[in-house]
Amino acid sequence: MTKFLILGIETSCDDTSVSVIENGNIIRSNIISSQIDLHQKFGGVVPELAARCHLEAVLPIYRLALTEAGVSIHDIQLIAATYGPGLIGSLLVGLSFAKGLALAGEIPFIGVNHIEGHIYANILGHPEIEPPLLCLTVSGGHTDLLYMRKWGSYQVLGRTKDDAAGEAFDKISRVLGLGYPGGPYIDRIAVGAKDDLEFVQAKGFTNSFDFSFSGLKTAVMNYIQHQKQLGLELDVPRIAASFQRAVVTQLTVKLFQAVKDYEAGTILLSGGVAANTLLRRRCQTEAERLGITLYYPELSLCTDNAAMIAAAGYFHFINEGPRNLEITAASDLKL
Ligand SMILES: Nc1ncnc2c1ncn2[C@@H]1O[C@H](COP(=O)(O)OP(=O)(O)OP(=O)(O)O)[C@@H](O)[C@H]1O
Ligand SMILES: [Mg+2]
Repeated sequence: MTKFLILGIETSCDDTSVSVIENGNIIRSNIISSQIDLHQKFGGVVPELAARCHLEAVLPIYRLALTEAGVSIHDIQLIAATYGPGLIGSLLVGLSFAKGLALAGEIPFIGVNHIEGHIYANILGHPEIEPPLLCLTVSGGHTDLLYMRKWGSYQVLGRTKDDAAGEAFDKISRVLGLGYPGGPYIDRIAVGAKDDLEFVQAKGFTNSFDFSFSGLKTAVMNYIQHQKQLGLELDVPRIAASFQRAVVTQLTVKLFQAVKDYEAGTILLSGGVAANTLLRRRCQTEAERLGITLYYPELSLCTDNAAMIAAAGYFHFINEGPRNLEITAASDLKL
């Protein structure tokens, strides 16, 4: 089989990433430079700093990605870059860099929807995946339950009405005095902890596939405030574990209701929260019980990376050909 090499570029938020993949699903290199240390002291991403940091990082990361893949830019047959959704300043850095490379090297170019990238992270390592399928995309900015009749077709069954699941993890981690981003900290500290605290959740969405995490977040924060007013010490692992259980329960109840309604035989998890141990375990147990197949990306591919962008770009290129270079960054791009 001839090798088709794709260069992926991702700068939508606070990770600068460049990757080379082969034939849509084999990773040759996937360099990720995280800005976590820069934003940690602010408890969240500072857009202006993120954009400046991408500008400094993108060229060295690009060179590293080519070197590690053992290729030169002349071997690349397609350049795929995220053009939305994300922080506008951050997006513009990677997109402009990618367009410049494409123009100078007369290389076909494709703009990729970042959320579609998260979904395609599943293809890396699992080329056998075939729709129809259900996909639960849970990230820092999105919580979408999707039915995919075929690749590239997205029927949104439900999405969050307020905060994204990852956003709620980040917020609760911050009020508990844990680190940023919050998901991995809560995941770790919840291991083996009691998860018996019941936090009130929004009732309005029980009969739909829409999600809501804002009420849960407020309930946890009120509980913490109340404990402090009473002069009681916070049982951080117990609060974290109970919060995590509530999020995962909401996600899995809706996902498996949809499995039933749509008679799905395959489900995908995608986005940063797909790294969550409890979410993976609950989904695995339930999928095995129902005899259906569950996929989730390996840990390093759940959060932002350019290999997933290259994989999604390849799919569109093969089916629709290249896009023109007029494409511009779109911070609120939808699926
Ligand atoms: N183990 C984990 N458990 C729960 N959440 C996690 C875990 N690991 C990462 N996350 C969460 O995933 C989010 C980051 O994921 P991702 O990089 O996909 O989001 P994003 O790129 O900021 O947002 P989007 O993809 O919607 O634009 C953060 O909110 C982080 O707390
Ligand atoms: Mg992301």
